[in-house]
Amino acid sequence: MKGTLWGGDSPLDPDLDAYTVGKDRELDARLLPWDILGTMAHAAGLTEIGILSREEGRALHRALAEALREAEEGSFAPGPEDEDVHSALEKYLVAKLGPLGRKVHAGRSRNDQVLADLRLFLKDALFRVMEALGETVRALVRFGKSHAGVVLPGYTHQRRAMPSSVGLWAAGFAEALLEDLFPLEAALDVADRSPLGSAAGYGVPLPLPREKTARLLGFSAVQLNVTAAQPSRGKLETQVLQALWGPGYDLAKLSWDVILYTSEEFGFFRLPEVFATGSSIMPQKRNPDLFELTRANAGVLEGLLLQAMAVCSKLPSGYHRDLQLTKGPVMEGVELALRMFGAVSKTVPALEVDREACERAVKGPILATDEALRRVREGTPFRDAYRETAEIVKSGGEVPGLSPSEILESRKYPGGAGAPAWERIEEELSAREEKIRSRRDAFREALDSLAARGGLEG
Ligand code: ARG
Repeated sequence: MKGTLWGGDSPLDPDLDAYTVGKDRELDARLLPWDILGTMAHAAGLTEIGILSREEGRALHRALAEALREAEEGSFAPGPEDEDVHSALEKYLVAKLGPLGRKVHAGRSRNDQVLADLRLFLKDALFRVMEALGETVRALVRFGKSHAGVVLPGYTHQRRAMPSSVGLWAAGFAEALLEDLFPLEAALDVADRSPLGSAAGYGVPLPLPREKTARLLGFSAVQLNVTAAQPSRGKLETQVLQALWGPGYDLAKLSWDVILYTSEEFGFFRLPEVFATGSSIMPQKRNPDLFELTRANAGVLEGLLLQAMAVCSKLPSGYHRDLQLTKGPVMEGVELALRMFGAVSKTVPALEVDREACERAVKGPILATDEALRRVREGTPFRDAYRETAEIVKSGGEVPGLSPSEILESRKYPGGAGAPAWERIEEELSAREEKIRSRRDAFREALDSLAARGGLEG
């Protein structure tokens, strides 16, 4: 049966239907489990205030639990006849429960329903992204530690500048990713507030137990003023994409370095054959497509951020159908970020390091600053030592050579090329992961208990 929840008597123009539904049928499929859980919590709320009898509440919970199972198995999904996931679920409940299925939408609107779905979806997604970020930090630490004693040129203006090390290269990116956790955690804080009960955006004349439905769904708070909920749609999606931008930025820089360092000109790293792609015409080519695409995907992420921002940022308050178009960018952004983390964390530990090529590149003028500072240690004022060393370099003289171990030995302070701060990185990662994990477990436990018991006890 073709029909909308709001359906009039005359059929909808099929082109208008296709245009307004857009990609929703495909995107909403990912919201289905969240829509079912949100509906369970809403039904428990309606039961608590006596709009549904306890018996009705229990029957609804049984049907919703069945829907959740079928959704997980794949036998229940929004079909071509459904305007969206919310219509599909109501249709399912009516088919199963008759008139009782028609009671469940009392006191809510698809506007707060989709808000709740998206917030649950995004919380789950952020937990997965943060986990993947942690894996990538661990991969960098593994790679960096196993080549920690290998020197590497450090570049400014893409010209040899100062000695660095392979360990430091990896540790620097690991630290950058840890910094990226801050905006991700902030986005999680923003997402962690329940919009349910705000209905179309102005509340309803029913005493809905909003704190209870929030708690049942594992939210830590309620978006209290009902007019606050709708304008947060699109804004949260933008904030999530902004939080994904940081990792994209770092992974693009890392990729750039790997592309350069694995090239014939640099030759510091080697990409194992399994991670290199070939050319259809040039038999010798082994290309770093994986890193090129990671660099490009960081740009795509940035585009998705702009899409979400552009759709919502000039809207007046309240619900507008425009907001539907922020769903795709954020869902795509999350998938992309997960794939980028997956690619990098798998490949980086497998990079081979050509120690000799690295050491060859950390000889000569790149040691000029080390030489100037050696003179400073002997008592020469820095500017004089600088000029003396500049003179040696200019006249083509030998900058006194330092061995790789001497170079690293003089940089043994934590965070220097000779002592990347592995312990600090590992400690910080595990402390922050533990906090995030306990938050994630509390979220999952709330949802498991809701799915099992429907929030009807007590
Ligand atoms: N697909 C819609 C969206 O994502 C669901 C909400 C529809 N609400 C409405 N008032 N038409 O925004």
